[in-house]
Amino acid sequence: MNTIFTDLLLKWDKKSNHRPMPWKGEKDPYKIWLSEIILQQTRVEQGWSYYEKFISTYPNIHLLAKAKENEVFKLWEGLGYYNRCRNLLFTAKHIVTTFNGIFPSNYEDLLKLKGVGPYTAAAIASFAFNLPHAVVDGNVFRVFARYYGIHTPTDTKEGLTIFNKIASENLAFKKAGIYNQALMDFGATVCKPMSPLCGDCVMQNTCAAFAQKTVGQLPIKEKVIQKKKRYFDYFLFKLNGKFWIQKRGPGDIWAGLYQFYLVENDKLVIADNAYFQQVLKDQLLIDLKEVKITNESKIYQQQLTHQLLTFRFLTIELKKMPKTFEKGEWVSIKNLEKFAFPKTINSFLTDQNN
Ligand code: ADE
Repeated sequence: MNTIFTDLLLKWDKKSNHRPMPWKGEKDPYKIWLSEIILQQTRVEQGWSYYEKFISTYPNIHLLAKAKENEVFKLWEGLGYYNRCRNLLFTAKHIVTTFNGIFPSNYEDLLKLKGVGPYTAAAIASFAFNLPHAVVDGNVFRVFARYYGIHTPTDTKEGLTIFNKIASENLAFKKAGIYNQALMDFGATVCKPMSPLCGDCVMQNTCAAFAQKTVGQLPIKEKVIQKKKRYFDYFLFKLNGKFWIQKRGPGDIWAGLYQFYLVENDKLVIADNAYFQQVLKDQLLIDLKEVKITNESKIYQQQLTHQLLTFRFLTIELKKMPKTFEKGEWVSIKNLEKFAFPKTINSFLTDQNN
């Protein structure tokens, strides 16, 4: 169905969309797929050179399918999230062995490929085969939330239903590929997240958010940031009046700060005998008869930008030095203050002193 929006978008695309990208207008599903997988991972500016490297190294799916994982990883280096890269290679092999190297040419079969979700399937189906499937991603949410003045959060079931419906209703059925690419480009260059170019926008007269002065508020997300939940149990091993502490290594929060023996879990575990058995006996080879569990603290929490940390401190009095401890130091209570600890460990230590 063509709406006013559709017509305006297609006119804008013809007249004003000057956004060169190496995969634009591409009809080879292999190349489109490759570009979309890379663009799941990074922005257009950075993805561009990765795409060119991949295409020149593996100009077709047969060559990619034959590649060694290490080689593909090397080309992927810097994009992160290596599972995507693993899926890329897996799917290339799958298409070569199962479909003789011929890419599936309909949405449902594309969706069955590992690493290909509704967005990527719609992109490949429309760009390569001009099939009428609308892409729905962050760009699309933003453009439609503003144009139609939709305040339903985009990250809810209800929001997804509404935006999928709008996306289908506005799709230019006979020009799905051109329309989808135009919509992405419009979202990226005009209806941008920050400082959108409303002053020059061809949609201005019919844009609900522009009329209602709500462009800056839309789209709405219910969950601001999904914080990763981590559960830290600190085991305070005490021997001859001293506590065992260790410096944190690189690659995580608080690199270089000190901590007690850390056990990280994906939920709050009941500190019962089975748990102590698992940590003390199975992990550290300490005989349970040789320890006294003298304290289980209250629960502490700390919010970081992307993480919600839940802590607990368990004091374990030892009778002799465990053999299995990694590098660390035994420090008297008095000397603990000489070491730099994360905030929550300091809160716990302060509580102990009062
Ligand atoms: N992001 C994901 N796919 C894209 C495409 N084809 N063009 C621009 N940005 C994109």
